[in-house]
Amino acid sequence: MNKAILFLLVVTLNAGYLSNCNAQNKPISQRVDSLMKLMTLEEKIGQLNQYNDDWLATGPVTLDANKKEQIQNGQVGSLLNCMGTARTAAWQKIALQSRLHIPLIFGQDVIHGFKTTFPIPLGESCSWDLDAIELSARTAAVESSASGIHWTFAPMVDIARDPRWGRVMEGSGEDPYLGSKIAYARVKGFQGDKIGETNSVIACAKHYAAYGAAIGGRDYNSVDMSDRLLWEVYLPPFKATVDANIGSFMNSFNDINGVPSTANSYLLRDILKDKWGFKGFVVSDWGSVGEMINHGSVKNEYEAAEAAINAGCDMDMESRCYKNNLVQLVKDGKVSMSTIDDAVSRILTKKFELGLFDDPFRFCNREREEKELNNPEHPKIARDAARKSIVLLKNEGNLLPLSKNLKTIAFIGPLVKAVKENKGFWDVEVPGVDSGYIVSQWEGLEKKIGNHAKLLYAKGCNIEGTDRSGFAEAINIASQADAVILSIGERRDMSGEARSRSNIGIPGVQEELLKELLATGKPVVVLINAGRPLVFRYTSDNAPAILYTWWLGSEAGDAIADVLFGDYNPSAKLTMSFPLSTGQIPIYYSHFNTGRPAQNDDNRFYTSAYTDLSIYPKYEFGYGLSYTTFKYSDLKLSQNKMKKDENIKVSVTITNTGKYDGEEIVQLYLHDLVGSITRPTEELKDFRKLMLKAGESRTVEFAIDKEKLSFFNKNLQWVAEPGEFDIMIGASSRDIRLKDRFELVD
Ligand code: BGC
Repeated sequence: MNKAILFLLVVTLNAGYLSNCNAQNKPISQRVDSLMKLMTLEEKIGQLNQYNDDWLATGPVTLDANKKEQIQNGQVGSLLNCMGTARTAAWQKIALQSRLHIPLIFGQDVIHGFKTTFPIPLGESCSWDLDAIELSARTAAVESSASGIHWTFAPMVDIARDPRWGRVMEGSGEDPYLGSKIAYARVKGFQGDKIGETNSVIACAKHYAAYGAAIGGRDYNSVDMSDRLLWEVYLPPFKATVDANIGSFMNSFNDINGVPSTANSYLLRDILKDKWGFKGFVVSDWGSVGEMINHGSVKNEYEAAEAAINAGCDMDMESRCYKNNLVQLVKDGKVSMSTIDDAVSRILTKKFELGLFDDPFRFCNREREEKELNNPEHPKIARDAARKSIVLLKNEGNLLPLSKNLKTIAFIGPLVKAVKENKGFWDVEVPGVDSGYIVSQWEGLEKKIGNHAKLLYAKGCNIEGTDRSGFAEAINIASQADAVILSIGERRDMSGEARSRSNIGIPGVQEELLKELLATGKPVVVLINAGRPLVFRYTSDNAPAILYTWWLGSEAGDAIADVLFGDYNPSAKLTMSFPLSTGQIPIYYSHFNTGRPAQNDDNRFYTSAYTDLSIYPKYEFGYGLSYTTFKYSDLKLSQNKMKKDENIKVSVTITNTGKYDGEEIVQLYLHDLVGSITRPTEELKDFRKLMLKAGESRTVEFAIDKEKLSFFNKNLQWVAEPGEFDIMIGASSRDIRLKDRFELVD
């Protein structure tokens, strides 16, 4: 063919591709295909490369002097830690100077709020309130999308059973059933009605997979796990996010049974992309592609890139292994063009869905940013979420709620006047925006009691260290008061990424301060602020009232004051077991029976118990008190035998027997008595949160179907085996109030 004709043909073809890819009426798949036909290999690889914007670091940063040129040349597909309409618009303009004008996608850790900070996810999970959880994710999406963000690296759906691991704060605790429900709610909240609405962000399920099972609770540590545990406990929340139509996944740092998750084709290809049919894209964790060299699973960056892309990791966050090696790997025949194309098309599809090709600046509206970051509704939503997250652990003699007629209150402790601490780890500082608004605990209480009572303050001690010089002043004001409130706990950066602790007691001399305050004979209410379950035996044995307040976010002070004075009746229940001592870790309710079950603490003789420590946690999964009390009665099953295609209807009546209106979280647990593989003694399979006025009764209904009775058998098939099941209805995993048995028949 004559060169001129060939040239004309190419030009015509390319013009066709270009018009296809710009045609808003064409299906996205066609637009992606057309665009990819125009792209060089280098441009395709650019889409797989994600960099950190240099002004904020959430990992070990690599600085490139020529980042701008790389973006202009189409060598970068995404930036993280780039926020605000001004900054995102500026980088987007640069990206649009590239040959094919492909826009960047901006990713950000919007973990528990953006400007408005919500309770840390673990705290929020204790609300068991799926609507409230969805709403907090929605609100975070509204704010962050208004500030130029397209994509959040949340929700974190790792099951966590070891409170030494600092990242327990980011998830929903120990249980796969509840964890899955919350994961689903969060994805719905972030992604809204659909990806592409300007008030939605793409969600990202992380960290895939089993990151929470890091040996010894040490962050980034290896994981050694049976298939059964993986499928039954660690994978379900991830599957729930796929069911919620999530747009992206992030792989975890750990290796699992010797294979780093970053290059784990069993996880990424066989399960996620093939079996579950996930159509979004997978991003590595920060630098995790290159870190496979440290794992010792690859020799160099070339091998790292080869292993990760072939396993199904589509985007390389910050390691630069893809950028520096993929061209050569394709030339060497180690990575196929179809593998590259698959990864690129997954990413481009999301960019099209976001509408970025039609308007790259649609998330950069300065007016909307201003409006949403100052939306007066958002603090109200945060306050509600915060109140719902506070767990009442102890309330001897109904010390709480405090009377509004108290004359003098002493508010003591290192966290009383702390401001930023209330935000916990993984808060977002929005550059150029005053994200300093936080209601401190002091301010919340001051607002609540107004002129009704005198409020005295003493710091008492620091969070850490041995300095007791503030004790005298604290004791002095306590002696003058009708009631003492002591706010103690961790520093907010003691939990979070790379914040594993071997000693999870209350740090410093804070419990000693409590001892001195109790010695004054005054009633003391303790607030414990933390990002994980702590061990606080002295406090739990001696303080008459304890509220576990986690890190509650922007509205911490108001929410705490609402609960202290009974304007909100606490309803939260723990989603992670609180150990009595670190020696019990890992501890979780859904354990197996063993051949010599530990029956109770009085019978340890040749049983699966400790000789020197109780088998029970201090506070179990599902535990949490209210200012009122609830009676459970009339458990009824529609039938005691069920066939696989049938349902059993279960009903139970709950009565509020106390003086306050309040909410109860009614929990349904099952135990499959005999299985082809052993089954846990209890598994949460349903729950209801219901509001009852004082004296009110209500009947709650549950349905048990085959799905609730199924598990992964030896061959990893999801089966319900005929046999008997115990059904337990309780106020916690230990506080089982009603029990019955039924049989599944063939
Ligand atoms: C964390 C991720 C986070 C990423 C980006 C990593 O160190 O493990 O959870 O999304 O950094 O900030």
